[in-house]
Amino acid sequence: MTVPAPGSDTDRAMMARALALAARGLWTTTPNPRVGCVIARGGDVLGEGWHERAGGAHAETAALADARARGRDVRGATAYVTFEPCNHTGRTPPCAGELVAAGIGRVVAAMHDPNPLASGGAARLREAGVAFDVGLLGDEAHDLNKGFVMRMTRGRPWVRTKLAASLDGKTALASGASRWITGPEARADGHAWRARSCAILTGIGTVRDDDPELTVRAVETTRQPLRVVVDRHAETPPAARVLAGGNALVVTARDANPAWPKGVRSLALPDREGRVDLEAMMHELGLLGVNELHVESGARLNGALLDAGLIDEIVLYLAPGLIGDPARGLFQRRAPLGLLDGRTPLAFTSVERLGADLRVVALVLRSDS
Ligand SMILES: NC(=O)c1ccc[n+]([C@@H]2O[C@H](COP(=O)([O-])OP(=O)(O)OC[C@H]3O[C@@H](n4cnc5c(N)ncnc54)[C@H](OP(=O)(O)O)[C@@H]3O)[C@@H](O)[C@H]2O)c1
Repeated sequence: MTVPAPGSDTDRAMMARALALAARGLWTTTPNPRVGCVIARGGDVLGEGWHERAGGAHAETAALADARARGRDVRGATAYVTFEPCNHTGRTPPCAGELVAAGIGRVVAAMHDPNPLASGGAARLREAGVAFDVGLLGDEAHDLNKGFVMRMTRGRPWVRTKLAASLDGKTALASGASRWITGPEARADGHAWRARSCAILTGIGTVRDDDPELTVRAVETTRQPLRVVVDRHAETPPAARVLAGGNALVVTARDANPAWPKGVRSLALPDREGRVDLEAMMHELGLLGVNELHVESGARLNGALLDAGLIDEIVLYLAPGLIGDPARGLFQRRAPLGLLDGRTPLAFTSVERLGADLRVVALVLRSDS
């Protein structure tokens, strides 16, 4: 059988399949990356698998087990993995060693592992005489794991803010009323974005005005993200829905409220002005293993995050209606921009219609990214 050259149509098809498998872990792998693996000889798939949850089998182990279950011989075959195989004994043994032991002849990875603890898989494979190529469909693999990459390289989560606005960019009336600006399709879609996140962040203003639950409801999931509230005076009412059932963290600039329900954690992170230090909070969330942080807050917290350079991606639902001034906008900055050149540059990555609304996804462009 002929062995396909790196980057051949067969390689691309196998890696595309591995990426589709990796995406099955979109809502469950946190704090681990989403990884898929296909073991093939030419175009013949011998086994495939994906990483489903932390502590469970890694994608390579699952694919090897699948090949065994199918009675297929993997010796000399190619393993397509969306992430460099790990070289680390954590809750599971190192995958690079497992691939070597199974007699795999060649490994094609989509991207390197940015985790300093787990990397070294490429070297281990090459030392054992296994051919190793990296970079095939790397952008797609990176996209699937931008939260993990951000946490490993910068020690903070990938921050995605979700907003719903009228066509003129108003997120709430001047009185604070904002329910509902968009339709049911957009709201259900918002739940899918919540489901892929590790934590959901809001501010005390939204807790006061909307009393949101901030759980995943409109889609089926086995995991609820941690809920995080920025609340410098620890004013979140103990009966607030966001605290119900625990699984919440209130970030304050002072002591916690002893009346908060069991399971609610708090963290005092004051900055020099006595507000919550947002950068320190991101660092703490990184230490907690938060890869993707989903923000659903009002204009004040969104503006403060933008001012601090802490927003990476925007998911904006635009409703076909006009509210007009005065009303609340999207990002309330600390100071007005003096020059148009100072605006935050974005790149649109998708525009879709959802029911009567539009969904616009944009990346924040940075000179250092
Ligand atoms: N349409 C939508 O997508 C949407 C989504 C969510 C909420 N909303 C609406 O938004 C409204 C609430 O918005 P809001 O702006 O009043 O509240 P908010 O943004 O939810 O919360 C304000 C929080 O931001 C903090 N903050 C502001 N600037 C800061 C800074 N520089 N450093 C640290 N923390 C800072 C505030 O802290 P301090 O106490 O220190 O100022 C406060 O904890 C409600 O009407 C709600 O319905 C709309």
